Amino acid sequence: AAAPDLAGRRVVVSAGGTREAIDPVRFLGNHSSGKQGYALARTAAARGADVTLVAANVSLPDPAGVRVVPVGSAVELAEAVEAERRGADAVVMSAAVADFRPVRSVSSKIKKSGTAPEPIALVENPDILAGLVASRDAEAPGQTIVGFAAETDDVVANGRAKLERKGCDLLVVNQVGGGRAFGTEDNQAVVLGADGSATDIPTGPKDDLADRVWDLVVERLA
Ligand code: C5P
Repeated sequence: AAAPDLAGRRVVVSAGGTREAIDPVRFLGNHSSGKQGYALARTAAARGADVTLVAANVSLPDPAGVRVVPVGSAVELAEAVEAERRGADAVVMSAAVADFRPVRSVSSKIKKSGTAPEPIALVENPDILAGLVASRDAEAPGQTIVGFAAETDDVVANGRAKLERKGCDLLVVNQVGGGRAFGTEDNQAVVLGADGSATDIPTGPKDDLADRVWDLVVERLA
């Protein structure tokens, strides 16, 4: 059994990918399976944490002993995470949040009309992770905030810039492209710390990567 080094801790994990409605039957979405987020929730529970999993459009069984809050869009995910982060020791944002949503979601299915289709106007979604960091002192002092990033090249340099931009404590940077990460069983990453640290996590099961991330969170909470 895992060491109960998260016993007495409350953690919030977001997982999956948001869907931004275009009309009642269509959405803008992404390929996130939710597997890495579910692995984070499962391993935290195994280490004794009280875990809330905010799950965006994930078709995986609920991990044992984890409270699951299902959401659809980025705005719903923001509301759920902002409510759940109160009193939590750590928040891990592994969900793939859509950067943009349609300005209007129409209530009837868009039909072919024989003329050129209307363009879909987009508006930017709130950056939930940056918002958690900005409101931390008021809402949850001492909370460890972890982000995820997918980069195709210059992984460490781009990751370091993103960590600074977002202001989070740890950023788990995956190298994507060439079939890596999305929907696969294995994952690899480098975890960058606001203290300048960089921890390589070699390719392995998503549960192993999750455990290494929790090791770094536990170090920070100590
Ligand atoms: O900027 P980028 O989308 O690469 O950042 C990824 C990280 O930011 C992830 O942790 C993701 O959950 C989070 N994010 C967010 N709100 C957004 C976009 C991304 O919290 N609107």
